[in-house]
Amino acid sequence: MSQNSLPKLSLFPLTTEVDNRGHLYIGGYDSVELVREYGTPLYVFDEFTLRSKCREFQAEFTKRYPETLIIYASKAFLNRALALIFKEEGLGLDVVSGGELSVAQSVGFPPNKVYFHGNNKTTDELKLALNWRVSRIVVDNFYELDLVNRLAEEMEIVQNILLRLTPGVDPHTHRHTTTGILDSKFGFPLTTGQADIAVAQAMSASNLNLLGFHFHLGSPIPEVSPYQLAIDLALRFAKEMKGKRDFHLEELSPGGGFAVKYTLDSSTPSIANYAEAIVSKLISTADELRLAYPQLIVEPGRAIVGQAGVALYTAGTIKEIPRIRNYVCVDGGIGDNVRPAFYEARYEALVANKVSEKESTKVTIAGRYCESGDILVRDVALSPVLPGDIIAIPVSGAYSIPMANNYNMVPKPAIVMVRDGKAHPIRRRESYQDLMSLDVI
Ligand code: LLP
Repeated sequence: MSQNSLPKLSLFPLTTEVDNRGHLYIGGYDSVELVREYGTPLYVFDEFTLRSKCREFQAEFTKRYPETLIIYASKAFLNRALALIFKEEGLGLDVVSGGELSVAQSVGFPPNKVYFHGNNKTTDELKLALNWRVSRIVVDNFYELDLVNRLAEEMEIVQNILLRLTPGVDPHTHRHTTTGILDSKFGFPLTTGQADIAVAQAMSASNLNLLGFHFHLGSPIPEVSPYQLAIDLALRFAKEMKGKRDFHLEELSPGGGFAVKYTLDSSTPSIANYAEAIVSKLISTADELRLAYPQLIVEPGRAIVGQAGVALYTAGTIKEIPRIRNYVCVDGGIGDNVRPAFYEARYEALVANKVSEKESTKVTIAGRYCESGDILVRDVALSPVLPGDIIAIPVSGAYSIPMANNYNMVPKPAIVMVRDGKAHPIRRRESYQDLMSLDVI
């Protein structure tokens, strides 16, 4: 392997290398070879990076606050292979649907580490969760408070719950992913008095055991101060409820939302920075208010899977509009990664079979879907691209695959896991037959 100092490489998985032909290697495996074997679009996950991030979260939080449970937010990307890895790493799981719950169940994930979130869980999903004896239902609203109590009563069980609070804190994320402000579909607002009523109702419910509070402010949150502000508000509310209702806070979850570096010009707090800010605020405010330290639940999604994933595409059409723009069209796009179109998300890219060549051209990477908005990366410097070259987009591990769709009837990509020079598929490519398999005529 050659020493390659291309700054972009720092965004790729931790095992990334370049050989003397200029081929990108991930997990000790040649990406050009991966493409030959599995085709494109292809999502590659590096097991070493994935496990390292799990361990980094656990280490950074527990060394500051031993009573921490890290629960992975499945929505960022879950399939059975990943669920097994998280189980092995000792993480818990945040699930938001019967589907995510079933994946966890199918790999024997311990239900006593599963938290069920969501603003409109269905009765069937709640029954599934209660039957499986999930650790906590994170109750989002009054309708659900009543529903969970009734279902638990029918099943003659007492269900542990958290209440989701809406603290009224703006995390300065894209508006589509801001959740902690008052005008949100999620949670019980603190400022309207509804959270207070929810505590009273939860405490008097026959089959619910209220253990604490959860909030989630948004995603990705590029600074630590919103967490600190919301922790302060949640603990002051807990103190008020202690005096008013004799409520004892045993558990607090400040949600997820930890940012990752997608582009070289962005800067984000490190996992250690987030841990320090959250824990120090929790301890100082609890001390000030004379509250017992609660169990801390942390719910990272993106920051665990983001950097571990790389998307590989094959370049096809190259359209040059003199003095305007050069488009490189690839065989994926908004079908496998809707984030640029939906959130104006920005990415870097490189030519995976020409990493050592000078990045002398500026291009816009467009997808293959019938939408002008199907642009993956705007104005990125690349080595000169020819049809057949492989385009790699780093930090593709979070929210691409789970938000993938079959627009234009294009099958969803294959996914492989790489480790120590070996690759194994963790999801096969969809076929045209798959696309029609649910149709009835
Ligand atoms: N906990 C709760 C209750 C959440 O709603 C979320 C994300 C998380 C944890 C994990 O957040 P993370 O650590 O991954 O930032 N599709 C968007 C992101 C939506 C996030 C929704 N909730 C995107 O592609 O950026």
